[in-house]
Amino acid sequence: SSEAEFYNQKCKDALKAHNAVLIAHYYTDPAIQKLAEETGGFVGDSLEMAKFGAAHEASTLVVAGVKFMGETSKMLSPEKKVIMPTLEATCSLDLGCPADEFKSFIEQHPDRTVVVYANTSAEVKALADWVITSSIAVDVVKHLDAQGEKILWAPDRHLGGYIQKQTGADMVLWQGHCIVHDEFKYQALEKAIKLYPEAAVLVHPESPEAVIALADHVGSTSQLIKAAQTVENQQVIVATDKGIFHKMQQAAPEKELIIAPTAGEGATCRSCAHCPWMKMNDLILLSEVFDKQDNEIIVEPELIEKALKPLTRMVNFQS
Ligand code: 13P
Ligand code: SF4
Repeated sequence: SSEAEFYNQKCKDALKAHNAVLIAHYYTDPAIQKLAEETGGFVGDSLEMAKFGAAHEASTLVVAGVKFMGETSKMLSPEKKVIMPTLEATCSLDLGCPADEFKSFIEQHPDRTVVVYANTSAEVKALADWVITSSIAVDVVKHLDAQGEKILWAPDRHLGGYIQKQTGADMVLWQGHCIVHDEFKYQALEKAIKLYPEAAVLVHPESPEAVIALADHVGSTSQLIKAAQTVENQQVIVATDKGIFHKMQQAAPEKELIIAPTAGEGATCRSCAHCPWMKMNDLILLSEVFDKQDNEIIVEPELIEKALKPLTRMVNFQS
């Protein structure tokens, strides 16, 4: 529409005028992903976003996603200005793991290596030995297990259970969950598979164990896009946020993409395969991002100092 075009142009002008680069997650609105593509910005999974921001020469990073992504970018590049369309965009995993409670959990397991998901606050990261994302989770824990280390994992219980199963590592798990992926249901997915017997099934590891068990491929958002591209199947059932379809369809234009069912028989979905916090990012907020004072990510220097150790391990890890 002409309104969308107006805001698209407004965003482009503002990014240019402020020497800023836009870094977006796959779950954001396609209009935002398109803007990132058109302006030399980036769309990727959470690890790639962190790496791109750290390596880019722009003095300002505009991060479209959820707050932990902005915080990670800031901690990896404290000298850069990091702003977000809204600071209200949180994540149920971050909300479900308050730093003070997590600190007590660590104190109950002093002999364990503390590995946390990137989907956590700066405070939680500052308490960790390692930060990881789903794209390297299994490989990092394999590496730690091979050194005889016992793991304390937080916050996603499904991803933690998946890592444990894949690696056989000794892990204790925090019991958090993602409200979006937790809604993918085994029985409904089984029915969908019967309906599309030729389809490949791609699942993000924040989904429940029984749903993961039905998958042909499990991985981060980027890994799922790669899988959609490389599988021979013409149809692909996808259990993750449907925002991913913008890039997945670009990568696999001839494939039919089908969203995995959320909620069971008779029940209505709450998030309906779209993260309510990712959804808060829109072109209007983005076009105003440089005019406001209250959307800059600020992280205390002591926190940055502590969190940089596990974050640097994350960005430097070679699978
Ligand atoms: P990815 O690292 O796979 O992009 O996942 C981030 C996320 O928030 C998934 O819900
Ligand atoms: Fe967090 Fe889930 Fe949203 Fe990802 S989809 S940002 S894990 S609430």
